[in-house]
Amino acid sequence: MRELHGTTAVVTGGGSGIGMGIALGLADAGVQVVVADIELASAQRVAEQIRSGGGRALALHVDATDRASLDRLVASATHEYGEVNVLSNNVGVAHDSPLSELTDRDWSWFLDFGFLSIVRTVDAFLPELRDHPGQAHIVNTASMAGLVTLPFSSEMPRHIGAYTTTKHAVVAYTEMLRGELQPAGIGVSVLCPGMVQSNLSATSARNRPDRYGGKLPEPRSTPPAGRGEVMSARQVGPIVVAGIRAGRLHILTHPELRSAVERRQQQLLEDFDFFAALRATAGQAP
Ligand SMILES: NC(=O)c1ccc[n+]([C@@H]2O[C@H](COP(=O)([O-])OP(=O)(O)OC[C@H]3O[C@@H](n4cnc5c(N)ncnc54)[C@H](O)[C@@H]3O)[C@@H](O)[C@H]2O)c1
Repeated sequence: MRELHGTTAVVTGGGSGIGMGIALGLADAGVQVVVADIELASAQRVAEQIRSGGGRALALHVDATDRASLDRLVASATHEYGEVNVLSNNVGVAHDSPLSELTDRDWSWFLDFGFLSIVRTVDAFLPELRDHPGQAHIVNTASMAGLVTLPFSSEMPRHIGAYTTTKHAVVAYTEMLRGELQPAGIGVSVLCPGMVQSNLSATSARNRPDRYGGKLPEPRSTPPAGRGEVMSARQVGPIVVAGIRAGRLHILTHPELRSAVERRQQQLLEDFDFFAALRATAGQAP
């Protein structure tokens, strides 16, 4: 069981939603938290909430799509707190669009924010984390959409193909990273939440850089779509803390969604059975 009290965490995307919930949860566990976000005012609100509850926190601006900005974050966090032990990556984008309508530029936006921002942030922090074997831990936020695929339907009335693609990449990257960093004493987990209250559609729209087409109109607020309970962001924090302490590979907020993973596995196994039967039949051919 990993002891977190007295350690330092950096939480990217910490100004809102799941990142905010994780920042607050870590602070409750006695961790000093650097709340890093492209929207500095949101990060400052979260850091202030932690400080007013008796914790230690600092808000910093970061753009996780920019390596130089991330390097400045590493320098500021280590200067302020001496070391960084926990890294929680929460940057992502969501946008409702069928796969067949996405341009190269749309894909670059999704991949840059939804996948490469995590890889880039891990790369920037790894030298610092390597200095703390046994205490260092990385949590990358993917989604249940990284474990299953949910095509457009009445159950999922949004086109989440590109989102799902990046989340599967985050899950695979994180599972592989865990094996690679285990000898260095760095724990690695992937957080796969179901639906959580957040501002993802709005922050995605207003933070789209000019290189990917610029800001989008703020989407009208729609109720979260999908399966399972819609959890508050605050509820996610203690689950992530428990997952880090126990060194779990997958941190799961919605155990009731287990059946969706079982169904996907079942489909895969049925395809194995089909081709096993085909091979057996071919073997009997005269
Ligand atoms: N809300 C859900 O139901 C849900 C479910 C599963 C997974 N997730 C994932 O959780 C993560 C957090 O999303 P959320 O739903 O809490 O949304 P959110 O919009 O509330 O939080 C995302 C935060 O990231 C910040 N951000 C955006 N671009 C950034 C950048 N380039 N650099 C630094 N910060 C940046 C935003 O300003 C915002 O504060 C995402 O990866 C999302 O895909 C969300």
